[in-house]
Amino acid sequence: MNEMLTVKNLHKSFGAKHVLNDVSFTVQRGHIVALVGPNGAGKSTIMKLILGLIPSDGGELKVDGIDVSITSHQELAKVGALIEYPGIYPFLTGKQHLELFATGADKEKDIDKVVAALQMGSYINAKAKGYSLGMKQKLGIAQALLNNPELVILDEPMNGLDPQAVKGLRDVITNLAAQGTTFLISSHILSELEKLADDVLILNQGKIAEHKTMHDLTHSAVSVFVIHTDNDVEGQHVLAAAGLIAELDHGLRIQQNSENNLDDALRALIADDIHIRAVQQVDHDLESSFLDLINSEARGAKQDDNAN
Ligand SMILES: Nc1ncnc2c1ncn2[C@@H]1O[C@H](COP(=O)(O)OP(=O)(O)OP(=O)(O)O)[C@@H](O)[C@H]1O
Ligand SMILES: [Mg+2]
Repeated sequence: MNEMLTVKNLHKSFGAKHVLNDVSFTVQRGHIVALVGPNGAGKSTIMKLILGLIPSDGGELKVDGIDVSITSHQELAKVGALIEYPGIYPFLTGKQHLELFATGADKEKDIDKVVAALQMGSYINAKAKGYSLGMKQKLGIAQALLNNPELVILDEPMNGLDPQAVKGLRDVITNLAAQGTTFLISSHILSELEKLADDVLILNQGKIAEHKTMHDLTHSAVSVFVIHTDNDVEGQHVLAAAGLIAELDHGLRIQQNSENNLDDALRALIADDIHIRAVQQVDHDLESSFLDLINSEARGAKQDDNAN
């Protein structure tokens, strides 16, 4: 059984608001999967549904091949999670929090293991009311990693962590994944996810807009160029008049495809006496892939609106 998580035709509305619309994806055992999307795309909602915290309006959710829902949560014993903000009791120490959540035969050993991995030893016996933002966040992550979960769901885990802690968390996650733990992680820090994740799920307006390996997404055949001119604003008008689409982003950013290409763009600009200073090919990192996809979907929606 290689599918640790299966999400099929998932729907969710809050009142009249359709938040998830037919979302399907699978997560393979031992993979680190990034769930990315704009604010309000539905990332936390998916995570809450998987954890049986809120009811769905249709669809299937399976953890390790077994159905989970708000009324059927046996499989969730295999799942550790941090959703949105960690629940912290100010008058308990960090250690006491972990003792509340530990379920294994050797609780002390399990607790010591996560405390050491996340380097929380110097404050784990202090009351949580004195913790900084990042210390609280680490305590939430420690709770999620306790009890050797097979699947770990982390919603914005890097929130408030300093660069050293971010690197430490990355090492902990990659070590656990190498031993077979599966991760579903949402974050807006795309550069960090790029270092961490095997697969990427891009969620946009409640739908899966892309599901690829990180390698395929960042090595996609689509080329993006930035043309630097002496008048980019005018240049954008000239390109638009020639039927070419360019985003204004520190130059004229064009995505090469059958209708839009660099040759035509350069010809149109030169024909209009716009001086070209430089042309640069953009490395396709996760951030640029993400922005290209979200922007092109927004343009598609606008064109559909105009057609109606
Ligand atoms: N309990 C709720 N009641 C009503 N609407 C909700 C509720 N929870 C979420 N929503 C709505 O569902 C949509 C998706 O929210 P969600 O929190 O899943 O987004 P997100 O992708 O996690 O965003 P962010 O990146 O800001 O964390 C939003 O439009 C939000 O307003
Ligand atoms: Mg969220």
